[in-house]
Amino acid sequence: LGSENIDTDIITLPRFILESQRMHKNAKGDFSMVLSALQYAFKFISQTIRKSELIHLIGITGDTNSTGDQQKKLDVLGDEIFINAMKTSGIIRVVVSEEQEHLILLEGNEAKYAICCDPIDGSSNLDAGVSVGTIVSIFKILPGSEGDEKDVLRSGTEMCGACYAMYGASTHLMVTMGQGVDGFTLDNNLGEFILTYPNLQIPANRAIYSVNEGNSPYWVESTRSFIESLRTHKVDPVTGAETKAYSARYVGSMVADVHRTFLYGGIFTYPSDKYHPNGKLRLLYEAFPMAMLVEQGGGKAVDDHGVRILDLKPTHIHDKTSIWIGSPNEVDKYLMHIGKL
Ligand code: AHG
Ligand code: MN
Ligand code: MN
Ligand code: MN
Repeated sequence: LGSENIDTDIITLPRFILESQRMHKNAKGDFSMVLSALQYAFKFISQTIRKSELIHLIGITGDTNSTGDQQKKLDVLGDEIFINAMKTSGIIRVVVSEEQEHLILLEGNEAKYAICCDPIDGSSNLDAGVSVGTIVSIFKILPGSEGDEKDVLRSGTEMCGACYAMYGASTHLMVTMGQGVDGFTLDNNLGEFILTYPNLQIPANRAIYSVNEGNSPYWVESTRSFIESLRTHKVDPVTGAETKAYSARYVGSMVADVHRTFLYGGIFTYPSDKYHPNGKLRLLYEAFPMAMLVEQGGGKAVDDHGVRILDLKPTHIHDKTSIWIGSPNEVDKYLMHIGKL
C-alpha cells in the first residue's frame, strides 16, 4: 500500500512495545511502562541538548561528581530530567545515576524496577558538539524488597533489559529486553522513535580498534603488546600474504564509539592503566548495559583478565571496570593474546 517512496506502515516505539507485549516479550506490560518513561526522558534530553547553546547551558558547574568527573551543567540537567521521568512511570522505585552519590528511592512508586543510568555520556565532548548519549541498565526489584542497594549490586546477568540513546546527527535508540537488540531513530516531526534496525547483529569482525592512545605509556604490558599487534602491517614469512594494520577510530564518548562498533564492527577498549587501576568506565551504568546490548547482538564484552563483563558483580554502585567490547572474532583475538582462548 502507499506510494513507493513513503513508508506508510512504520513501526513506532509504542507500537513495537505493544507488539512485543503481545508476543510475551514482556507479558504483564510493566516493561512497557518502563520503556515509555525512558523514551520520554531521551526525547526531552535530546531536545535540551540541541538547544543548549542557545540557552547558555554549555559549560561546567564547577563541581565534581562522586566518580571524580568534572560536572557539566548538562550533566546535572540531564540527571534531573531523567530522574523526574522515572518518577512518572509509577513502577520504578530505585534510580542509580552517575551524577548522584547515593541511590535514589522514588517513595511514591511501586517497587517493581531499578534503573541505573549515565544521564549524559561523553559530556567532556558536549561543548564541541560531538555526539553524546544516555546509557541505562534495568533490573527487576528483588522479591520482598522495598528498593535498596541489593537490588542493583548484582551480577549483570540479572539485568532484565538495557538501552542507550545517542544524540548525534539523528537521535538513535538501541534497546534489548534479553531477546535480541532493536534500533530506533527519532523522527522529530512525529516526535516518535521509528524502528530502523530490527534485530541488529554486530559484524563478526572488522579491522577497527578504538582506544585512547594517549594512555599508552600507562598501559599494562598485555594491553600494549596487543594494541601494537593491531597497529602493525604483517607479511606471512612463508606465504608472503599481507595483513593490513587496523584503522583507529576514537570519539571519546563511549556511546558513539560503541554505536559505531555495533554498526561497523571492530573492538572498543578502555583498559586499566597506571592512573585507572580498575579502568575508567563504570560497571552499573556503562559497562553492564553496553555488554548486554552487544552480547544480545552477537558480540562479546570482557575485562582485562578475560572475565565476561556480565558475570562481574559490583560491591559499590559506582564501581569501575576495564572493558574490551565488540565483534566476537575481535574480542576473541584479545582473549587469545592473553591466553584465555
Ligand atoms: P561520562 O561523560 O559519562 O563521564 O563518560 C565519559 C567516558 C566515556 O564516555 C568515554 O569512553 C571515556 O569517558 C573517555 O575517556 P577519556 O577521555 O579518558 O578517553
Ligand atoms: Mn562523567
Ligand atoms: Mn559515561
Ligand atoms: Mn556521564
